[in-house]
Amino acid sequence: ERKETATMIAAHELLKKFYHHLLMHTNEGEEALNYLLQRGFTRELIEQFEIGYALPSWNAAVTFLANKSFSLPLMEQAGLIVKKSGEDSYFDRFRHRIMFPIHNHQGETVAFSGRALGNEEPKYMNSPETPIFNKRHILYHFHEARLPMRQKQQVVLFEGFADVIAAVQAGISHAVATMGTALSEEQARMLRRNASSVIVCYDGDRAGIDAALRASETLVEAGCYVKVAMMPDGLDPDEYVRRYGTDRFRHHVLDASLSLTAFKLEYLKRGRHLQNESERLRYIEEAVKEISRLSNAIEADYYLRQLANEFSISMDALREQMMVYGKKQV
Ligand code: CTP
Ligand code: MN
Ligand code: MN
Ligand code: MN
Ligand code: MN
Repeated sequence: ERKETATMIAAHELLKKFYHHLLMHTNEGEEALNYLLQRGFTRELIEQFEIGYALPSWNAAVTFLANKSFSLPLMEQAGLIVKKSGEDSYFDRFRHRIMFPIHNHQGETVAFSGRALGNEEPKYMNSPETPIFNKRHILYHFHEARLPMRQKQQVVLFEGFADVIAAVQAGISHAVATMGTALSEEQARMLRRNASSVIVCYDGDRAGIDAALRASETLVEAGCYVKVAMMPDGLDPDEYVRRYGTDRFRHHVLDASLSLTAFKLEYLKRGRHLQNESERLRYIEEAVKEISRLSNAIEADYYLRQLANEFSISMDALREQMMVYGKKQV
């Protein structure tokens, strides 16, 4: 068992170097390298994140691993190659993709995610769940982020690989990503053990906002203090950094992140024309309903006061409305 997982990790380490070499130093890797450079990934970042390229071939990894005397059935269990149905032969799982190595907490390479160079589906192809890759327990870049996280007692949580890399470029080394799946309780606890506060910085599209709200609930349950960064115009953090630069990302997005309640209140405003009286009243009602969910009376009072000021309504009226939603007193 122990020996088999060690062998699986060794294969990942070697393959990671092979993919990286193909990207950086071969003609076959040129298209992928140009794609990355055009997107704004610098050579330095590509080195730092050990990004690579998998050839279009059906058997480049199979041959590479067989030449290094790895057992192919074991490599199949490791998720690196796939068995042809009904046959005793194997083919590469990752073909013609940009390869992001994924590390466990010790910094060992335990999985890959391969991005298509164009619009092919799926956009990202991931290693399956294996004895060395338990998706619920792994966050991208966690092993590198852990120390800065502990020092700052803060972590910034993203959805994707490119977002973490853009953040690191912006000097945010305490950055990790969920890699497109819902944040698990285990992942939330991992974060809580290393930092007290979490900034959730998901994509600015509908899916990203919904996922940010769900992740925030999981983080609050794990005991984290949660803030949420608002991404404008449906942008994701990587696109934002490319468009507006690293400085603006730090100061206008991260430093301007909102408490979870403030984010929800802000989110309720989206798409509403608040200059219209009936829409304004609807918003105030929904905001009060949201505030009534708070268990902390001081917090509830704070947001109620903000609402009162913002819309020139008496606190008495707002408090009365709170009661309608089941809050006895504030
Ligand atoms: N993802 C995945 N499989 C997909 C699509 C996405 O595993 N088919 C994961 C990846 O980890 C990705 C994250 O979900 O980084 C966020 O998805 P998305 O926002 O669609 O991708 P981006 O990270 O923005 O990727 P890119 O900038 O390369 O387009
Ligand atoms: Mn290198
Ligand atoms: Mn997205
Ligand atoms: Mn995205
Ligand atoms: Mn993106």
